Amino acid sequence: MADEQDEAQTESKTPVVRSGGAVSAAGGHAVVLAPPAPVGPALPQVSRRGVMRIAFWSGMGAMLAGIGATILNSLWPRGVTGFGGKILVGNISALEPGKKLQIVEAKTWLVRLDAEQARRNGGQEGAILALYQKCPHLGCTVPFRADFSRDDPRNGEKYAGWFLCPCHGSTYSDAGVRVFGPAPRSMDTMALSIDDNGNITVDTGDITPGGVNNGERGVLPG
Ligand code: FES
Repeated sequence: MADEQDEAQTESKTPVVRSGGAVSAAGGHAVVLAPPAPVGPALPQVSRRGVMRIAFWSGMGAMLAGIGATILNSLWPRGVTGFGGKILVGNISALEPGKKLQIVEAKTWLVRLDAEQARRNGGQEGAILALYQKCPHLGCTVPFRADFSRDDPRNGEKYAGWFLCPCHGSTYSDAGVRVFGPAPRSMDTMALSIDDNGNITVDTGDITPGGVNNGERGVLPG
């Protein structure tokens, strides 16, 4: 009997709930009701730490992508002008056979072989060469010495007119072929082209190590 009375009292204290509205409860207790659950798919819950982590890695990714793009941009040669690119060095009309022109901007000696020079160097008369002015030994600039005379060990002839390095005496022929000195090879050559109007362009980014066949690398005007 006592248990029945307790149960009746407990039931009488249970709040009466009305959805989304006020609450009344027996015994004078106030209860706040939760709003009704939203209808539709539940949105994912993202913690504050998660948001910060996403922001951090997004920033790191953007920074690394920027660094990578900058490096690639600096390594990719586009529109190179001056030394390292193609340089218009003059016209064939200013370079008769046997003549040499030093083109400072291109760091090159432009030479055109005459018949005698072609014979000594295994080239063709009238062919044009672009010789890199930098000595293959230790990099000094090599001048042409029209007054310097010496024997040519390739044929025993003696004549004047040699490229003579002032630093250690390496000596090169009209076609830049090494005949004497500590240089490990002949003067390097640069690629060149001659258009229909006789304009000569040297590609200072296309350098071939010098060799005894330098004379054969000459380009004949069209
Ligand atoms: S730098 Fe030319 S011979 Fe040494």
